[in-house]
Amino acid sequence: MPGLLLRTLLGENAGSRPVWLMRQAGRYLPEYRALRAEKGGFLALVYDSDAAAEITLQPIRRFGFDGAILFSDILIVPYAMGQDLEFTAGEGPRLSPPLVDSALDALNAVPDRLSPIYETVRKVRAALGDGRTLLGFAGSPWTVATYMVAGEGSRDQHETRAMAYRDPAAFQAIVDEIVSVTVDYLAGQISAGAEAVQIFDSWAGSLAPAEFERWVIAPNEAIVRSLKVRFPKVPVIGFPKGAGEKLPAYARETQVDAVGLDETIDPVWAARALPDDLPVQGNFDPLLLLAGGEELDRQAKRILDAFAGRPHVFNLGHGIGKETPIENVERLLATVRGWQSAGA
Ligand code: CP3
Repeated sequence: MPGLLLRTLLGENAGSRPVWLMRQAGRYLPEYRALRAEKGGFLALVYDSDAAAEITLQPIRRFGFDGAILFSDILIVPYAMGQDLEFTAGEGPRLSPPLVDSALDALNAVPDRLSPIYETVRKVRAALGDGRTLLGFAGSPWTVATYMVAGEGSRDQHETRAMAYRDPAAFQAIVDEIVSVTVDYLAGQISAGAEAVQIFDSWAGSLAPAEFERWVIAPNEAIVRSLKVRFPKVPVIGFPKGAGEKLPAYARETQVDAVGLDETIDPVWAARALPDDLPVQGNFDPLLLLAGGEELDRQAKRILDAFAGRPHVFNLGHGIGKETPIENVERLLATVRGWQSAGA
């Protein structure tokens, strides 16, 4: 029988809540930091499929999450499209040349940069116990484009938003190319053993409504449509961070199977605004994991209560912070799991 997470993403309300945390593999774990120091950096870890598989499994061993998310990064897609990619300690990622001053056509694609990731998926699949779901992922075209255009993270994505207004045809070509590589990339992950995929749209919140339609909804709809032709039963989770009141349109028009909610969304509002049978995921504030204590329990229960009537995957509203104390993760899990047995 498929695990609780997969069943929930497929629309079943099993009563108890599956739980996993965005960025659950990473720097808040001492076992991750040890392996990273040994292998010499983030990209080296991603391209060593034994190490990447091990890191994917670390949080499962420690916490018994219902889902394991592939250890990789959304910027592997631009890397495969031919940009150079560097992660230097203390700074964010760098992509070169930035597309703000270099044409898309000047890039030479390197599709082989995707293959080692599929190898990681196969290794995790073979090692992951029954009942746990393996999640693949990619960035959404808009969010990936913001890094490709600026060459780095930017405060309000201004270069990319400006380019999209100044030269919509050129920007459309970039987005179309990202859509195409992303479909291949997610299809490759699914073929290698991913049972569901998530599309991270970290910067969806920076767009005005018409631009949100064009650069968030339309490309995500295209990705979902292409994947469904080949993999009709594999759920796609869309996570348009910051989408706010645009969430109902996003869910309806993209046809994602489940919607990830960030911590700014009131769960009581979301439960009313989104279709009753739509699985939702989220949306505990990762900063509450730094604070801990009774406020943590109270806010987790509020989310559990609000989504009791529909399929719900417990998760954070964004990635877990690197300063998070392990004991607060344990406390959160105890609250989520305790609520289940109380309700049973
Ligand atoms: O969730 C997981 O545990 C799986 C792996 C995963 C990583 N990045 C590993 C990673 C996932 C799903 C991502 C997604 C990702 N990557 C997003 C979307 C989600 C979000 O957080 O908004 C974005 C925007 C990126 C791009 C990226 N990667 C940035 C901006 C950075 C540097 C800043 C940071 O948060 O560290 C990364 C590096 C990165 N990706 C690390 C990890 C574990 C840290 C690497 C290290 O220093 O060890």
